[in-house]
Amino acid sequence: MSVNEKIIGFINQLREEGETVFPFLYNKKLETFDAEKDWVFYSGPYWGDEEVAAAMESLITGKWVAAGENVAKFEREFSKKYNFNSSLMVNSGSSANLVMIAASKKHFGWSDGDEVIVSPVGFPTTISPLVQNGLKPVFTDITYHDLNFDLDLVEKAINSKTKAIFLSPVLGNSPDIDRILSICDKNNIKLILDGCDSLGSKWNGKDLSDYAAVTSCSFYPAHHMTTGEGGMVSSLDKELVKMARRFAWWGRDCYCTGATNLSPVGACGNRFDKWIEGYDHKVDHKYLFSEIGYNLKPLELQGSIGLVQMQKSDEIHIKRRETKNRLEKILKKHLGDRISIPQEDNKAETSWFGVPIICNENKLKQMLVEHFEGNRIQTRNYFAGNVLLHPGYKHLDDAGKFPLANRVLDEVFFIGCHPSYNEAVFERVDQVLSEFKG
Ligand SMILES: Cc1ncc(COP(=O)(O)O)c(C=O)c1O
Repeated sequence: MSVNEKIIGFINQLREEGETVFPFLYNKKLETFDAEKDWVFYSGPYWGDEEVAAAMESLITGKWVAAGENVAKFEREFSKKYNFNSSLMVNSGSSANLVMIAASKKHFGWSDGDEVIVSPVGFPTTISPLVQNGLKPVFTDITYHDLNFDLDLVEKAINSKTKAIFLSPVLGNSPDIDRILSICDKNNIKLILDGCDSLGSKWNGKDLSDYAAVTSCSFYPAHHMTTGEGGMVSSLDKELVKMARRFAWWGRDCYCTGATNLSPVGACGNRFDKWIEGYDHKVDHKYLFSEIGYNLKPLELQGSIGLVQMQKSDEIHIKRRETKNRLEKILKKHLGDRISIPQEDNKAETSWFGVPIICNENKLKQMLVEHFEGNRIQTRNYFAGNVLLHPGYKHLDDAGKFPLANRVLDEVFFIGCHPSYNEAVFERVDQVLSEFKG
């Protein structure tokens, strides 16, 4: 019997002995969903025992505690699955954005003060890496029906300092990628994707990330795939990912990972050489620092979990789409024209992060949120709404210039779209909405 099988046996034994095992596994909890007392959480890990067993196995038998061969293998498998030439795993989606922007600036030769167009509506750590890297975020307002970029305004915002459009599709749903690509082509600028909410989402049958120069991803439990915490930077351009790795691994020049990190000659085959110009002795490449970096590495057990989660990614995509459709019908049945729910374009195949709900007035949002939460159905703001309303960000631009973005905090929220929502959950949402008196 393998160690992994023994661990699974041990987990089952604990279960038989009446221990509470993995109470955080949301999909397991839903198997016995009790509408009288349980919450409908907006998200949570979609795991089986096998993810936890893989993590435990890597701790018990692994050669590495910090990022090692399982992280390296996860990076390779992730690249294979989503058509990249290279990927770098880091400790969060925010870290992925941070090193993705740092690496893009260096790799594409952008200068301090160069401009990147970004939506003011969404998650703050899409925007913060631009500021942290000396770039200027240029905000454009949204189109209200889908809460995504208004592409007419994006086009108008481009000038000689613009280097990229940084797209973060709203709850996984992309704007018109064909048009964005043509804007990028015409102006010779890059498309960079914050794919933290959109893993698996497609446009014209291809992954959204196929259209971007570089893409980030988050593996926080609310996201499509989770490793507890974690993130990924991926691209067809191996040099760009190598640069991102430098920033994430202390700024060091060496790009050895996993097993090659143990090789006496290193991945470059030339570990001890005269690496420093003007210094006439050999230096270990592992200790050559070519960037001012961070340490944003993941743990090995996160790589082990990722390898198991990958096998479920297609099933997660299908189920999230089904769940969105089911919940949308229920919401519309009870609320009709008082709400609208963003739709995917006919070229899109969205892997929904949640079900966005746009209310026709602020009072309705407040009442619905109160009603859902009071009946144990979790809700979430569409993250920051307009991030420029927030104390840490308001110096970046005048929030008043973005009237539609400002309505998001007032009128928009979302409920979950978890791949393991079942009939009992759909019935609960239906029943709770049927009792809504607002
Ligand atoms: C669009 C977007 N980008 C980045 C992040 C940050 O990811 P993490 O929580 O892994 O740092 C999030 C978090 O939910 C997000 O929604």
